[in-house]
Amino acid sequence: KTRLYSGMQPSAESLQIGNYIGALLNWKELQQTHDAFFSIVDLHAITVPQDPTALRENTRRTAAQYIAAGIDPSASTLYVQSHVAAHAQLAWVLNTITGYGEASRMTQFKDKSARHGADATTVGLFAYPTLMAADILLYQTSIVPVGEDQRQHVELTRDLAVRFNSRFGDTFTVPEVAIQKETAKIYDLQNPLSKMSKSAESHAGVIWMLEDSAVTRKKIMRAVTDTDGGVVFDRENKPGVANLLTIYSVLAERSTQSLEDEYAGRGYGDLKKGLAEVVTSTFDPIRARVQELLDDPAELDRLLAVNAAHAAEVADATLDTVFERVGFLRPR
Ligand code: TYM
Repeated sequence: KTRLYSGMQPSAESLQIGNYIGALLNWKELQQTHDAFFSIVDLHAITVPQDPTALRENTRRTAAQYIAAGIDPSASTLYVQSHVAAHAQLAWVLNTITGYGEASRMTQFKDKSARHGADATTVGLFAYPTLMAADILLYQTSIVPVGEDQRQHVELTRDLAVRFNSRFGDTFTVPEVAIQKETAKIYDLQNPLSKMSKSAESHAGVIWMLEDSAVTRKKIMRAVTDTDGGVVFDRENKPGVANLLTIYSVLAERSTQSLEDEYAGRGYGDLKKGLAEVVTSTFDPIRARVQELLDDPAELDRLLAVNAAHAAEVADATLDTVFERVGFLRPR
């Protein structure tokens, strides 16, 4: 089976619907046909300040959301990044072959450092992409399914793999990025030109997987549309409606054409009601399952530990080769 790798940051409270559609739904499909590794990237999370108690809880809750959304921890390797020491170790080696200018060009770094200000911009934030490259390369990954916002990081990963291979001999598989066009970017319901994000300033346009369904319904009913009135999929001129139709179509497994047909001649209110129904009936059972999983944290931790042990086996084999190739004296 082809090796696949992806990861997600632990999020405060809950994942949002963009993570669900852009990542989890896709992963759930892919895990059936691939040897899939999915991580909860807590090492990445601390590149911005975190409350230690909250981080621990959030990591567990994120794992529960993966499982509740359909990631099967016995078919896929679902684990916590910090449980596998090799990630930080390989990242260090990769830092030494990454150009300062190259890392400075990463748009996510530029955005985040602008947002946090120069004083709060750390070396860790700067090195975020090389740690992500380490995640991917440790597992000899062939494909990396991500949303559009991660494309540049995967391209850097490819560059680093090629560079290391040519300098030290063939060591890493050069991974391909896999981006599902239609769902690569779910937009904020209040601002349909910007990506829905956990770190959005206002949460009025962000749908959380674990929030109360009444709250979800209200947010959908208040979603920004346009004054034109027609339920038509037109990303350019009607981004709000196009976003609602995208979410609807993915969750209901229907084409946007069939939704346009169903809602032709009806108002946005009807479309939103229909969408709210589909979203809440998707998330209601997931929320219940998350609660069950969190009621037995010892079992959840045990699952994560078993999976981390498997991940470490694969990762350590690659790291060993890397240490050998760069010329480290190995303990014997
Ligand atoms: P993160 O935690 O920001 O997001 C996790 C995944 O969700 C996708 N995503 C979206 N997709 C569609 N619409 C949206 N509004 C939306 N918001 C987020 C992201 O593209 C991503 O696929 N750096 C990564 C985590 C990471 C990783 C890795 C990924 C660490 N190591 C190795 C792949 C391979 C990140 O911060 O994702």
